[in-house]
Amino acid sequence: MELKRLSICMALFLLAYIAQCSEARHSRDRREVDDVHYEDVLADEATDDEAQNDAEGNDADEEEETDAIILTQPTNYNATLGKDIRLECKVSPADGVVVQWTRNDGKFFIGTQKPLDQNLTSYGIENRFSIPANSTDLLIKDVKLYDSGAYKCDILQMNRANIEHTLVIFEPPKIIRFTASDDGQIVEGSDFLLTCEVSGSPPPQIVWSRDGENGNKRLAEKDGEFTVNSVFIKNVRREHSGKYYCYAFNGVGSNQAEVYITVKGKPRVHVHKTVVNSAINVEAVLQCAVHDEPTSHIRWYKDGQHIKESSTEFSISTRGQHSNLTVTPDDDQDFGTFTCEAENEFGSHNRSIDLVQSPVVEHLQVDGPRLSWTIHSHQPVEQIEIQLKDMTGEGEWRTLSVPVPQGRNHEYDVVYTLDDQLQSGKYEATVKVKNDKSWSAHTDSAFVEIVYRDSAHSITSSSLVLAASIMYLLVRM
Ligand SMILES: *[C@@H]1O[C@H](CO)[C@@H](O)[C@H](O)[C@H]1NC(C)=O
Ligand SMILES: *[C@@H]1O[C@H](CO)[C@@H](O)[C@H](O)[C@H]1NC(C)=O
Ligand SMILES: *[C@@H]1O[C@H](CO)[C@@H](O)[C@H](O)[C@H]1NC(C)=O
Ligand SMILES: *[C@@H]1O[C@H](CO)[C@@H](O)[C@H](O)[C@H]1NC(C)=O
Ligand SMILES: *[C@@H]1O[C@H](CO)[C@@H](O)[C@H](O)[C@H]1NC(C)=O
Repeated sequence: MELKRLSICMALFLLAYIAQCSEARHSRDRREVDDVHYEDVLADEATDDEAQNDAEGNDADEEEETDAIILTQPTNYNATLGKDIRLECKVSPADGVVVQWTRNDGKFFIGTQKPLDQNLTSYGIENRFSIPANSTDLLIKDVKLYDSGAYKCDILQMNRANIEHTLVIFEPPKIIRFTASDDGQIVEGSDFLLTCEVSGSPPPQIVWSRDGENGNKRLAEKDGEFTVNSVFIKNVRREHSGKYYCYAFNGVGSNQAEVYITVKGKPRVHVHKTVVNSAINVEAVLQCAVHDEPTSHIRWYKDGQHIKESSTEFSISTRGQHSNLTVTPDDDQDFGTFTCEAENEFGSHNRSIDLVQSPVVEHLQVDGPRLSWTIHSHQPVEQIEIQLKDMTGEGEWRTLSVPVPQGRNHEYDVVYTLDDQLQSGKYEATVKVKNDKSWSAHTDSAFVEIVYRDSAHSITSSSLVLAASIMYLLVRM
């Protein structure tokens, strides 16, 4: 009787697989069929088959039929694609019990029986699904995404008993394609779209980021319009150039891809200094740098007049994105405004440098009551003045004369402390310097706070320094 039942089950089992075969064939990789050697599989599994058949054939006949029960509780199994999973179905008593595993109410696995139809090998069923020796569990090897589903373990006896497990297959994220519109060559002011096609189960989430000057930075809401797998960035600026990353994760694993964006547009010109001091017969080098993509053409102008490459008066040296104009003035006419201009297919940009004979004052700094600055002058410096105005009252500008220090290489580092001469309060200060040619322009204002020593205990000197520096910085910005 047991044998008859088994053979019915076997028939069901085969039918079910043939049905499954035609149902799922379209999604299979035909190559798998060729790769499987059915004979080998049979040989490998023969020992298991015999052991199981012997046990069922001999012991089961002699034993009384007592109803077995299933000890295992229905379970939700999670498995990662490509891994093995064992679905439990512990029965008691275990001896001689035959279970039938059913998938999605239609696909059968019984004992350790193998399908005989060679076509079924294309599913890997006989390789991947088995009932481990001495158990009634179902072992699935190398799980595929389509193995997801409901698996029922049924005891084949008069009083049927069963449990149903759910199997969910997880797949780590895989980035299929990460692309940027226009192959990542974007024109400044236009828009671009990054698309990151990912697969995975559960569906992966994406984090977008960009390598910038301050390292890798995650793109935030304000940076673009986000959808599940794309980000749209509008009105692209030069700073948007760089490497973009798509980072996909889903709790099972993560994956990352990158794409490079080049923003093309008008060049940007920067000059090393905006005012340069020189003198008759003293060589001056005016330096200009260009940020561009695509490469631009660099030209120089003197007081609005284009300087030809062939000019003997001026020498122009351009290497890549840098250009120097060297001039040795012969007379007063050679001083003036020099303009560095860069032009590419998207437009042009320029910056000017004044070449002057007057002194050039730089780096005016405030440290408590102490002011410091640097003077450049090829002609001897004759006079230095600080002009001060009390910011608390309706103060008039006051002029303080500063002694001229010893210069080196036409540079004068000046330090001057305002102590004692002033009442406590806040002052606005600027500096101007005269050489034997003319006065310099005023510097930008700096702000100084003077506190008398006898009232200093109320304000610490370090907080003064800080306040003064901050005020100075605010003004410079
Ligand atoms: C399986 O995954 C789900 C989320 O998809 C989770 O809620 C559940 O706890 C997981 N179960 C196990 C046994 O890891
Ligand atoms: C097995 O597959 C071959 C070719 O795909 C087909 O011709 C044959 O009929 C199939 N056999 C069965 C029993 O389905
Ligand atoms: C199965 O059970 C038999 C007898 O109970 C034992 O000899 C054999 O080692 C067991 N096989 C496995 C794989 O546990
Ligand atoms: C520099 O650019 C300004 C506009 O930004 C333009 O008016 C001027 O003519 C340019 N100068 C030169 C010398 O190209
Ligand atoms: C420009 O001048 C600077 C300073 O003399 C020098 O370091 C640089 O290499 C020069 N650049 C070019 C393009 O000639």
